[in-house]
Amino acid sequence: MTTTDKPPLPARPHFSSGPCAKPPGWAPEKLFLDDLGRSHRGTLGKQRLRYCIDLMRAMLELPDTHRIGIVPGSDTGAFELAMWSMLGACAVTCLAWESFGEGWVTDAAKQLKLDPTVIRANYGELPDLEQIDWRHDVLFTWNGTTSGVRVPDGEWIPEDREGLSFADATSAVFAYDIPWSKVDVATFSWQKALGGEGAHGVLILGPRAVERLESFTPDRPLPKLFRLTKSGDLNEAVFTGETINTPSMLAVEDAIFALEWAKSIGGLKGMIARTEANAAALDRIVAERNWLGHLAQDPASRSKTSVCLTVDGADTAFIKRLAALLEAEGAAYDIAGYRDAPPGLRIWCGATVDTADIEALGPWLDWAWREMNP
Ligand SMILES: Cc1ncc(COP(=O)(O)O)c(C=O)c1O
Repeated sequence: MTTTDKPPLPARPHFSSGPCAKPPGWAPEKLFLDDLGRSHRGTLGKQRLRYCIDLMRAMLELPDTHRIGIVPGSDTGAFELAMWSMLGACAVTCLAWESFGEGWVTDAAKQLKLDPTVIRANYGELPDLEQIDWRHDVLFTWNGTTSGVRVPDGEWIPEDREGLSFADATSAVFAYDIPWSKVDVATFSWQKALGGEGAHGVLILGPRAVERLESFTPDRPLPKLFRLTKSGDLNEAVFTGETINTPSMLAVEDAIFALEWAKSIGGLKGMIARTEANAAALDRIVAERNWLGHLAQDPASRSKTSVCLTVDGADTAFIKRLAALLEAEGAAYDIAGYRDAPPGLRIWCGATVDTADIEALGPWLDWAWREMNP
């Protein structure tokens, strides 16, 4: 194989499933920085935090029934804040079909000792959603980033549920139409579909979650970082930009850049359209190669963001070498599957990735396959 046999490189070989590719056109010097080195509780800092929250609401098409706020600790922080401050009022069911869902099972069972009902499925599959007892609080991952399996929609969540639905939606928001009336708690991080930074999480609370916070005091100590109520009432200020502790305004400005980009491409609809075009382009690549397959068997619950692929006969060492070859060529960064998942590739197809770059990846996968199978 000579250099001339190499196909054209993707313009941005950033296919990581988190942190994900920056929005097209992003550059650090384009960020608004006047609020750096100043108090986040001053007029400008508060204005920018509020602006970020307002943009998120608009880009998510979040109804007025739901609050949205910025909290510490990326998606993990937001989801654990919700678990620690709301669980224990009734029985708990956890759904798990990949690594992050399993993480919430561990939290509920071993840390909070809630003895949850656990409904599991293997990597590549979705559990039976009809089994769920909705008298329980139900925890699930909208899009399982490590297996590429997502819930197909919100039809399986009853409007008249007794328990609360807790959705870890970090690799789902801005990629799917989320039916907000079915979601009591949702969390995400800017580092996924927006191509933002980690560090902060976003917490979305529906009215029944607020009711829970105001009517239920868990029998456990809550660190200040998790406290959302004051004298039994919701601390509404958190949802207008008065963060619990000091945020990184640099990360906030970076998120604002991404959200303004999302607005410029048509908001949620534009984000979804780009995601779908990317997933369709990757799907064509898979269909044309008999050595590639989808880990998620059912197209209805196959992720359109974190697309996980099987590679014929590949073990962990093979995948590691293949991914390293592509990385060294500048053709694809970070596409080896997650460490706990079956050996395979994982290619982010969220909106910040350009479809032309996914298309350019196909011939590079062929090149790496040939290099590995001389
Ligand atoms: C589904 C899911 N949940 C939680 C996390 C953890 O997110 P963070 O590192 O932003 O806290 C991730 C990260 O990849 C994820 O994909």
